[in-house]
Amino acid sequence: MKVAFTLNGQAVAWDGPPATRLVAALRDGLGLTGTKVGCDAGDCGACTVLLDGKQVCGCLMPMAQVAGRSIETVEGLANDRLSDLQESFLAHGAAQCGICTPGMLMAAHELLQKTPSPSRAEVEEALGGVLCRCTGYSKIVDAVLAAKQPLTKVEATSGAAVGARLARVDGEPKVSGREAFGADRVPADALWVRVVRSPHARARFELGDLSALRGRFTVLTAADVPFNGYGIYPDIKDQPVLADGQVRYRGEAVLALVGDRDAVMAVRDAEIPIRWTPERPLFGVDAPRAAGAPLVQADKPGNLLLDGGVRRGDAEAAFRACAAVAEGTFETAFVEHAYIEPEAGWARRVGDRLEIHASTQTPYMDRDEVASVMRLRPDQVRIVPTACGGGFGGKLDLSVQPLIALAAWKLGKPVALVYSRPESMAASTKRHPARIAARFGCDAQGKLVACDVTATFDTGAYASWGPTVANRVPVHAMGPYAVPNVLTWGEAFFSNGPPAGAFRGFGVPQAAIAHEAMMDELADKLGIDRLEFRHRNALRVGDTTASGQKLMHSAGLAACLEALRPHWQKALAEPRGGGAKRRGVGIGCMWYGIGNTSMSNPSTMRVGLARDGALTLYSGAVDIGQGSNTIMLQIAADALGLPVAQFTLVAGDTDLTADAGKTSASRQTFVSGKAAELAGLDLRRQILRLANAGEGASLSLDGATLRVSDGATVRTIDLASSGPLMGEGTFDPPTTPLDQNGQGVPYASYAFAAQMAEVEVDIELGTVKVLRMVAAHDVGKAINPTLVEGQIEGGIAQGLGLALMEEYIPGRTENLHDYLIPTVGDMPAIEVILIEDREPLGPSGAKGVGEPGLVPTAPAILGAIHHATGVRVRRVPVLPHRLREAIVAEKGTTR
Ligand code: FES
Ligand code: FES
Repeated sequence: MKVAFTLNGQAVAWDGPPATRLVAALRDGLGLTGTKVGCDAGDCGACTVLLDGKQVCGCLMPMAQVAGRSIETVEGLANDRLSDLQESFLAHGAAQCGICTPGMLMAAHELLQKTPSPSRAEVEEALGGVLCRCTGYSKIVDAVLAAKQPLTKVEATSGAAVGARLARVDGEPKVSGREAFGADRVPADALWVRVVRSPHARARFELGDLSALRGRFTVLTAADVPFNGYGIYPDIKDQPVLADGQVRYRGEAVLALVGDRDAVMAVRDAEIPIRWTPERPLFGVDAPRAAGAPLVQADKPGNLLLDGGVRRGDAEAAFRACAAVAEGTFETAFVEHAYIEPEAGWARRVGDRLEIHASTQTPYMDRDEVASVMRLRPDQVRIVPTACGGGFGGKLDLSVQPLIALAAWKLGKPVALVYSRPESMAASTKRHPARIAARFGCDAQGKLVACDVTATFDTGAYASWGPTVANRVPVHAMGPYAVPNVLTWGEAFFSNGPPAGAFRGFGVPQAAIAHEAMMDELADKLGIDRLEFRHRNALRVGDTTASGQKLMHSAGLAACLEALRPHWQKALAEPRGGGAKRRGVGIGCMWYGIGNTSMSNPSTMRVGLARDGALTLYSGAVDIGQGSNTIMLQIAADALGLPVAQFTLVAGDTDLTADAGKTSASRQTFVSGKAAELAGLDLRRQILRLANAGEGASLSLDGATLRVSDGATVRTIDLASSGPLMGEGTFDPPTTPLDQNGQGVPYASYAFAAQMAEVEVDIELGTVKVLRMVAAHDVGKAINPTLVEGQIEGGIAQGLGLALMEEYIPGRTENLHDYLIPTVGDMPAIEVILIEDREPLGPSGAKGVGEPGLVPTAPAILGAIHHATGVRVRRVPVLPHRLREAIVAEKGTTR
């Protein structure tokens, strides 16, 4: 059927089946990939376009209904320059990963056409159908409100980039729709992979006669995988690319079909001859430990992945002398990353090498893992990261990479794989569910004396990042406080749940829920203000941590609490309400070790000056939306002494950049940023030596001519003859291994934060509305305050989801309709306060902030619920029925 319509003001004719969805026609038929697909089911709004001036979901709109009508997409917003709205998004830092940005822009565009000066409520209403997982919405709403008069763009001159609110250097493609995510630049001749997945959490299976399928497609099974095991740790390659006769979780990959896209996608699971023998699955942390429980992994007795702890002083003896003791057990659920971009990518064989273009947080690890699976040398694999539409830890594990690699290698053709939303949610890793038993004691003055915490994690079917979580949590489980007698323990058990992996915080957010509730209870028992109690116990410079590490510098928790104090006192003085609606205020604190726990995690960066004067930062750090592309340039530019605007950036490509490690553990600013600083300084030293100039000389670059001004003397370097020059920097944070008692230096630096939440609880309905958050974060130095605020606001949104709404249940919440994440309407007003307690090891004093933004949020909200209701909820998310039940259980009535 031919469909004629107007697209961004131009008449177009499209030819295809009338039921084809508009977003598919735009992306696949008309080549406009600015409009994104996050769910293909009307839940996320990533596909939002305007139909006759009104926002619609392109994934729901059949082309038959488009005939004769007008469609506007993100590609139509800019003419010869970006629109004011797009400029405003850039200036406000409203696009982080950028995958939701086209949909947001179109929803806002509709509003601004009708209402040029909208109220905040009108903006929130207009954006209500578009989900953003990165930003916390605050800067998006600000950008729309200011669209009539966009902020003046900040330009940084030489030496003034660090600390400036520069717009992100990769922002223009994100707001124009030109950014290429994993599904956006698949070659037209690519074959597609369709993965068949297990409907059972635990089962044996046999493949039947595949000859009919083999007549139509290339069929890949476990037998086709050269080395059928992968995993994060070099000694734990326990996850098969394709299951071999046994599945351990619902959603596990069993078999793959490769062929023409429409044909493979049309195959139904029922057509695949698989004989299943389901077995009783193990769920939770008790069943795997029960006597006689079957083993999830045959070589892991008791289903134990790993355990270990921290022991300092004599906690048991110290408890006996405490004036007050608080005790409680807390439980958390599987939590889904819900990045708006599902896993996607494509691969091709180039001679005896593989080239993989995919959305990832860790190109070098992907390279080595794919090489291992394929039994190739690492230098035979090139990873070219696409833009990453959100990761949050979920794109640290392999997803599409091994299957597209295998198929492309076998077939010699490009091969693509794009997960559907349910596939993404069923197959990918989750936040570890935890049960945390905590006991804390203090003296009569409110000084902490002892703590005993056991954190038990459900690590799901495969190890993934389980060891990292089990190692990190005991170090953090006493919270950011000076406690002389400590006993903490972390343990992770296999189950038939989805593999639990890395998710913003590596278990620390779960532990923080427990230790912060204990702080509140002890403060209440002694009649001490909750903020003051934390202030008395805050780790400070000169204190020794439970791991025996003396903090030498940059421990700004007390300063964070001081910054919160006036907000806290004001909130406490406000009326608490009566009847069904009760108000409360709560506080949460955290600390977070930056980088890997007691492990080397180096980063190398290079800055090059070519003979033609091209100045390039070669950065292996992947920007997953947090802004590392911009941060690295700001740091390198100031170290070298030339403006950011003169740099080009080569990022992530394993053939062109050095290994900068993973984008995880809040490490890129601290570790890779330091490497970028050292690289800039190295190049600067070379230049000064060439010019025989002193340290204070200033540089300017004009084409291939580099001028070095040293006082009144100006020397000129002709790069055509003196170049190319290359500066290199490597940084590996100084840590030491932990002994059997968890003593050592697990991290070179720690971030600290305190957040305050004000909530309103409807005690009859059990609903909680978070009204306001104030977040004070010690970041060492804010290299780019706009980006830092964005990380904190986005972390707060995910922390709110953790506290109040998010619970992944296999088979029941495998879409964004049943699995709820915060919308713009769920978000409170947020005030961010940046504390800069300089970290001497970091670049310009900076630490990390990616994960810290989330950690204190749930504890603050839970504390506020307790303040409002008098009820301490011990299981998150605090869904309305759970809160009602807790209120009735504790008070006998909601009245
Ligand atoms: S892709 Fe259309 S609403 Fe999600
Ligand atoms: S910026 Fe909105 S989802 Fe990433």
